[in-house]
Amino acid sequence: MGWPLLGETIAFRKRHPCTCLGEYMEKRINKYGKIFKSNLHGAPTIVSADAELNRFILDNDGRLFEPSWPTTLVKILGKKSMIVASGDAHHYLKSLAINFMSIPRLRSDFLGDAEQSILQTFSTWVEHTPFPLKEEAIKMSFNLIVKHILSKKPGEPETEQLRKLFMCFMRGVVSMPINLPGTAYRKALKEEHIQIVKLKKERGETGALTWQDYKKMEFTRCIVSETLRLGNVIRFVHRKARSNIQFQGYDIPRDWNIIPVFTATHLDPSLHDEPHKFNPWRWQTLSASTTRDDSYMAFSHGIRRCPGQELAKMEITIFLHHFVLNFDWELAELDHPLASPFPEFPKGLPIKVHKLSLDM
Ligand code: HEM
Repeated sequence: MGWPLLGETIAFRKRHPCTCLGEYMEKRINKYGKIFKSNLHGAPTIVSADAELNRFILDNDGRLFEPSWPTTLVKILGKKSMIVASGDAHHYLKSLAINFMSIPRLRSDFLGDAEQSILQTFSTWVEHTPFPLKEEAIKMSFNLIVKHILSKKPGEPETEQLRKLFMCFMRGVVSMPINLPGTAYRKALKEEHIQIVKLKKERGETGALTWQDYKKMEFTRCIVSETLRLGNVIRFVHRKARSNIQFQGYDIPRDWNIIPVFTATHLDPSLHDEPHKFNPWRWQTLSASTTRDDSYMAFSHGIRRCPGQELAKMEITIFLHHFVLNFDWELAELDHPLASPFPEFPKGLPIKVHKLSLDM
C-alpha cells in the first residue's frame, strides 16, 4: 500500500486527462475489482468505484458515515465550514443554503441577475483576441454570488479584490470543462436557443429571459449533465466509517476512510453506453439506454447533496444560451482539461470569439 505516511496519495492524485479515470484507478480496478483498499492521506482507506456502494455510503451519511476531508482542506475551509460540520450544525447551515438558492429565489432574483452578469462579461470581450474562458466563467459565477451575499457590484474595488483572492483560492474548483467543437450537438444546441428567441418574438416578448424560457432549454440541460458526467468537477468525496460496517461481503472497519469515486461510476461501461463518448442525447432516452440516472452523482447525493445544484445548472444554461446566440468561437490554443484532482485547463482554455448578428 505504498510508503508508510504518503501511502499511495501521490499516485492517487497524479494529474491525468479529466475524461478518464487515470492510471491509479484503472490499474487497481483491473487488479482488485471496483472496491479496494489503499493508504491515502496518511490513513487506511477503502476506495469505491462501485455504484451501489457509493449510493449506500451517501444514503447513510450522518448515520454510518461522516465527512473526513484531508486536514489541508479543512485548514483552508475552516472547522466550521458546511462540508466539515455534522449533525445539527450541518442541518442548520444546510437549511440556510437551501433557502438562499431555492427555486423561487432562482426564479425571482438569480435568473435575471445571472443573465445580466453574463451579458455584462460578454460586453468586455474583444473579437479575435485570445482570452482565457475559464477565468471569465469564474468571474461570471463569482459576481453573481457576491451580489447576493455581500450586495457588491462587479467592478467595485472590493469586489475585484475579493475576486482575485477567490480565484487564487479556488484554482478552478467550480469551473466546468466546457468544450463545444463544431459537431452535431453544437448545431442542436444552437437550434434550441434560436427556437426560444423566435417563440419569444412570436409572443411579442422582448428583453430578459423568463423562467418559462429557461425551462424550455431541455437539450442544453442534457449537455450540462453530459459535460458533468464526463468531466466531473468533484470527482470523489471523503468519508469515514463510524462503526464496523458490512456491505455485500465487504468489511469496512470502523474509523477507516472511504472514498466514493463518482467519476468511476460515470465512466463505467456497464452503466453508460460508450462512456467515453460525449453524447448528450443519452439523457433524453434514459430508459432506452443503459445510462442509469441513479448512479449519476455529479452533485453528490443524500444529506450532503450540493445545495447549489440548480443555481449552477441555471447559470451554465443561461451562459450557453447567450454564448451560442452571440458568438462563433474557436480554441486559440490546444488545451485539454486535466484532473488534479479538480478539472483544470493548463492554459485556462484560451478562445477567440467572433460576434454574430443572427437574423431571426
Ligand atoms: C457545476 C457546479 C457544481 C458542482 C459539480 C458541485 C458539486 C458538489 C458536490 C459533489 C458536493 C457534495 C460534497 C459531499 O458530498 O461531501 C457539493 C457540496 C456543496 N456545494 Fe456544490 N457544486 C457545484 C456548484 C455549487 C455552487 C454554485 C454552490 C453555491 C453557490 C455550491 C455550494 C455547495 C455547498 C455549500 C456544498 C456543501 C453541502 C453539504 O455539505 O451539505 N456548489 N457540491
